[in-house]
Amino acid sequence: MKNIVILISGRGSNMEAIVRAQIPGAKIAAVISNRPDAAGLAFAASHGIAAQVVDHKAYPSREAFDAALAETIDAHQPDLVVLAGFMRVLTDGFVGRYNGRLLNIHPSLLPSFPGLHTHQRALEAGVRVAGTTVHFVTPTLDCGPIVIQAVVPVLDGDDEAALAARVLVQEHRIYPQAVRWFVEDRLSLTADGKVRVTDEPAGPAGWTVPPVEG
Ligand code: GRF
Repeated sequence: MKNIVILISGRGSNMEAIVRAQIPGAKIAAVISNRPDAAGLAFAASHGIAAQVVDHKAYPSREAFDAALAETIDAHQPDLVVLAGFMRVLTDGFVGRYNGRLLNIHPSLLPSFPGLHTHQRALEAGVRVAGTTVHFVTPTLDCGPIVIQAVVPVLDGDDEAALAARVLVQEHRIYPQAVRWFVEDRLSLTADGKVRVTDEPAGPAGWTVPPVEG
C-alpha cells in the first residue's frame, strides 16, 4: 500500500476524483487544508479519510507554516503528496523535502500561463487550445517536470467559467491517472530531474520472463 496525502484549499473536486478512482494499492491517508472552511474537508471526512486543517493564518511566517504542515503530513508516512487546488506558495525547504513525491495540477498547458488567473489570461491571449498539466513540484511555481497533459479546445464565446469547466473535466481524468502511475511504480523523477513513465506491466503478475524452450 502506498500512503497518499492530499492538500487542498477549497472545493476539492480533484481530491474527490482521486478518491473516487479507488486506485488499487493506494491509501488516501489524509486530506489536509490550509483553510478551515474548505468544502472538500467534508467529503474526505464522510469517506472515512482523516480530514485535517493547518491554518496558515495561525503561523507568523511561511517557514513556520510549512514546518507545521510537513509535521502533519509526515505523521501519515506519505509515499506521495498531492497538491489539489492547494493555494499556498511553498518554501524551497518544503519542496525539497518531498522531492520526487510531490505532484501538482495546474489548469493550463504549462509552461504557458503559470500562476493565477490562468483561464482569463489564456482567453486574452487568444489561444485556440487550452488544457491542464500534472507536474512534479520544484521550487519555481508551476514550472516542474511535466507528467501528463490534456488539451481542450477554446470555443467562440467562451468566458472564464466555461473554459474552466471544460478544463476541469480533463483535470479529473489526468490527475487520478498520474497518481495511478505513481502507485504502480511506473512514474518517477530521475536524478537529473526528468520524468520517467514506464510501460504497463505485462500482466497481473507483473513482468514475466517467458520459459526457455527445450
Ligand atoms: C483546479 O482548477 C486546479 O487545477 C487548480 O485549482 C483548481 C482547484 O479545484 N490548481 P478543486 O479544488 O480541485 O475543485
